[in-house]
Amino acid sequence: MNTTLSKTRDKKISVLISGRGSNLAALLDAIDAGRIQGRIVRVLSQRADAAGLQHAEKRGIPTTVVDVKAYPTRDAFDAALGDAIAADAPDLVVLAGFMRVLGAAIVQRFAGRMINIHPALLPSYPGLHTHQRALADGVKWHGCTVHFVTPEVDVGPIVGQSAVPVLPGDDEATLAARVLDAEHRLLEDAVRWFCADRLSVDGQTVALRGAVKPPASCQNPQR
Ligand code: GRF
Repeated sequence: MNTTLSKTRDKKISVLISGRGSNLAALLDAIDAGRIQGRIVRVLSQRADAAGLQHAEKRGIPTTVVDVKAYPTRDAFDAALGDAIAADAPDLVVLAGFMRVLGAAIVQRFAGRMINIHPALLPSYPGLHTHQRALADGVKWHGCTVHFVTPEVDVGPIVGQSAVPVLPGDDEATLAARVLDAEHRLLEDAVRWFCADRLSVDGQTVALRGAVKPPASCQNPQR
């Protein structure tokens, strides 16, 4: 295969983070290993102290901090962030632990090419403190969701979900760790599918072209 040609086919990905960046690191590892036909062109954060920026810096990937404190209004911040993202003309924008709600204007600007990883099985537990709320409700399954971003928070078309069992003795930390591990795999899959042009959206439903066979049902606890 012609390498130049395959390079030009790589999707350009921008990743937005707010903290540790373990989902970003998982994506970078997957790209390095050749499992995603794409490349991360920039990592952006609204916080200069986001530790995850180092994952990009170590690899020489450009980073941009759009400091939320420097803008008088949410719209002004969103416009600046949107411009910073658009400067690279990315094919895909990934919210990977980006802990700020984006307004309708920026969401519409990147409609159909912005995805988010959420640490719960939506539509259960939108918003914050998902693990704590799942434990309080005594659910037996929890997990994560990758969805396209729409102006209403955490309700966009679902690309994929990964369920993990809630186990006896779980606390927020053990459950969060189990979910995070699932997040890393699900986000990699979602980005790979997007980059391979395998996703199509019809209303609220996302179809995966060439889908593999569906998993069997699972029960927790098992008999
Ligand atoms: C993840 O659980 C993500 O779903 C949530 O924030 C966490 C970010 O983790 N919104 P990391 O920064 O990717 O390590």
